[in-house]
Amino acid sequence: MSDLVAVIIPAGGSGVRLGSTLPKALVQIAGKTLVEHAVNRMAPIASQIIVAAPLGFEEEFKKLLGDEITVVTGGVTRTESVKAALSHIDASHDFVLVHDAARALAPTSLAMRVVDSLRAGEKAVVPGVAVSDTIKRIDKDNYVTKTPTRSKLRAIQTPQGFKRKVLIAAHKSKDEMTDDAGLVEERGVSVKVIAGEPEAFKITTPDDLALALKYLVGGANEDMRAGVGTDAHAFSADSSRPLWLAGINWIGEVGVDGHSDGDVAAHAICDALLSAASLGDLGSNFGTDRPEYAGASGAKLLQETLVKISDAGFSINNVSVQIVGNRPKIGARRAECISALSTALGGAAVSVSATTTDGLGFTGEGKGLSAIATALIIRSNK
Ligand code: CTP
Ligand code: MG
Repeated sequence: MSDLVAVIIPAGGSGVRLGSTLPKALVQIAGKTLVEHAVNRMAPIASQIIVAAPLGFEEEFKKLLGDEITVVTGGVTRTESVKAALSHIDASHDFVLVHDAARALAPTSLAMRVVDSLRAGEKAVVPGVAVSDTIKRIDKDNYVTKTPTRSKLRAIQTPQGFKRKVLIAAHKSKDEMTDDAGLVEERGVSVKVIAGEPEAFKITTPDDLALALKYLVGGANEDMRAGVGTDAHAFSADSSRPLWLAGINWIGEVGVDGHSDGDVAAHAICDALLSAASLGDLGSNFGTDRPEYAGASGAKLLQETLVKISDAGFSINNVSVQIVGNRPKIGARRAECISALSTALGGAAVSVSATTTDGLGFTGEGKGLSAIATALIIRSNK
């Protein structure tokens, strides 16, 4: 009998409740995506890790996680994502842990305690914490049908551990459950609850993301830095030049002249982030002496800037950019702008506004565009 452990990480959800432009598992905190945080914390106890990625994001996950991790295509539900991963487990593994990417900060020590219980002979082990709210069962019309005794209730987390054969047998069921222990219980297998951990909470809403960042920044959570950036470019005399602004292409509008694509909003945000981190500015990082950035898109520069500030130990709290000019009108495409900018910044909170200048100055005279941005970043420890 071997006692090797395989870990399945369902990361195939889209994160509707988080409201990000990226699948939730690709949202970053402290310079790493949630799925990387989860994988890193499980790696010490696993000899095989299988991640279920959202359809269409498999290659991105592979690039991010490297060759050691098996990436499979997730299903339309969590249960189906786990099923998709199960068939890839090498049969040498006696134990399987199933762990939500959304519980990105669940510590290695928790996974170790789950494994210890399995090695001590349990067939199914789940972490759980006492609930502080009274929980009521309701019917379809919202009338209470039952109030279970609170002291006997536990809020259940992941990683959940199983003997491999027990989990495989349970997944023969066609039922949909929000966790794997649910399927195992249905077959009459005893499921042991061990003490959970506060850090194993599920990142579901934007508030949860802020809490996760607090856990990561630890005692340094007062170390916030603000930055400011501006950029301006003249409209091109070449009316065929495309306009790139706030990460999107504005068909029918005349573009601006400049090194790179001239996206003033993206450039102002890069400068704001670099200035907040005291890392210089766009020119000193990607200037004309760096020919590889000639013609670089605004999105590319935002991505590179995110890498630089992450390497320096910072996470983005939020960025805000205001575009100044007579045209294009931003309002109708504001959501697209926010989506493009946020995606390039690893799912960071972005706001986009715009103004004209009452006919004054080069923007008011319709000669060009400018943008001003602020960024708030937080120093993180891990
Ligand atoms: N998950 C999955 N495949 C799905 C749905 C969810 O692998 N079809 C994963 C998620 O990626 C997450 C875990 O199951 O790691 C728990 O799901 P949840 O927290 O609900 O994440 P999402 O479904 O992405 O979020 P939401 O319900 O807000 O859309
Ligand atoms: Mg979900």
